[in-house]
Amino acid sequence: MKNVTWSSRFTKQMDADVLEFSQSLNIDIVLFSSDINVTIAHVDMLESCGHITSSEKKKITNGLKKVLTLAENGKLKWSVDFEDVHMNIENALVSIIGDVGKKIHLGRSRNDLVATDLRLYLRDFIDLYIDQLRDIQFVLANVAMKHSDSLFPGFTHMQVAQPVTFGHHLLAWCEMIHRDEIRLINNRESINIMPLGSAALSGTSLKLNRSMVAKALGFKSVTKNSMDAVSDRDFVCDFAYVNSMIMMHLSRICEELVLWMNPQFGLVELDEGFCTGSSIMPQKKNPDVPELIRGKTGGVYGSLVGILTLMKGLPLTYNRDMQEDKSILFESIDTTMSCLSLMPKMLSTMSLNKDNATSIASSSFSTATDLAEYLSKKGMPFRTSHHVVGDIVKFCEKKSIQLKDLSLKDLRSFSDLIETDIHKVLDPLTSIKSRNGVGETAPQSVKRESAAIIKRLKKIGFK
Ligand code: ARG
Repeated sequence: MKNVTWSSRFTKQMDADVLEFSQSLNIDIVLFSSDINVTIAHVDMLESCGHITSSEKKKITNGLKKVLTLAENGKLKWSVDFEDVHMNIENALVSIIGDVGKKIHLGRSRNDLVATDLRLYLRDFIDLYIDQLRDIQFVLANVAMKHSDSLFPGFTHMQVAQPVTFGHHLLAWCEMIHRDEIRLINNRESINIMPLGSAALSGTSLKLNRSMVAKALGFKSVTKNSMDAVSDRDFVCDFAYVNSMIMMHLSRICEELVLWMNPQFGLVELDEGFCTGSSIMPQKKNPDVPELIRGKTGGVYGSLVGILTLMKGLPLTYNRDMQEDKSILFESIDTTMSCLSLMPKMLSTMSLNKDNATSIASSSFSTATDLAEYLSKKGMPFRTSHHVVGDIVKFCEKKSIQLKDLSLKDLRSFSDLIETDIHKVLDPLTSIKSRNGVGETAPQSVKRESAAIIKRLKKIGFK
């Protein structure tokens, strides 16, 4: 085992099993480019504040760039002997440029460094996530536009409730995903604050220019309390929460796809590329991808509980427990990202079974509310209309017929407010067209809303 930087106060070397147990390199190695960028900004500042000379800065910066190239090309010799990514980079630098490399840790500690690296790393991920979420919205809005007037059953309590347009249903999904996008945009603000300069916990006796480093790294501001800064992992919890919300939404979408694809519903088909067969039943086409996304949601929720539990008993300031934040979070990012990236293709290749959708949307007295509203438009109090229509439904059920099968005479026996225009009102197409306000299901309304979403996304480069 090599001598690690903090080892001089020890008389014994770290037990090899303990080193293996406590190292985090296998997890935090992904932070290498953030770590190097942070150090480049830090040494720029050290030079401008007079703590190192400009030739030292140049040597260090060139050395760090070499380390970055080696790491990017998979040529850097990483070693768990150095515990984590930060010490590996420092050691690689020293082995390239010599002792001057040992100056990089002036005025900082790994406690503020890891918090800074992680914030930078997550900030980049937020940008990737936002792109993915927008991709999904773009697909949904385009498919919704195509299906702005396709009839579809709307459910409450998993029972057919009222006819809607398929496009309207897809735009409901789009709203969920849009909220995830907004949540991430807000998250980006709170993540974009720089802890560096807090050092171990109390700051440093050196005069630093923290704002200069923050500016160079694109941070909006610097943290205001060094003790909080090194022990704050709220941004990790926020990210785990965002992942959970995204997965909750994807899982609900997938649950609907599983149901709709079920031959008992027969409402949509997923492209064969997203389904699998059975090893024994030759007829099967199973919705494995939506099922897997639904299933992976549990693990991502687990990360949220994991990180909250990790933090709940920690006294200020840094505690080594916090090293565990990354394995929890990175796993949830990997899972969420892999699910997000499958969605656009799966949604754009899904097809609607129009005949079935129309027939289910027209079943189960789905226009009963339209009938009640018809009576109330003619002056009947809504509670009374509701009651009258309930009686009509009971009558139909007894005769095993639908509302549209009733004769005018039958209908008028329940209320003489009913006139010849009633059959049009009972038509599901009339029903959807009559709901044309903002956020309602009418084809016109779906067209307007899809167009607005497409316009918003085209403005930022979607094609
Ligand atoms: N690998 C550590 C982590 O991820 C870096 C900070 C180490 N700090 C310390 N005081 N041991 O948390």
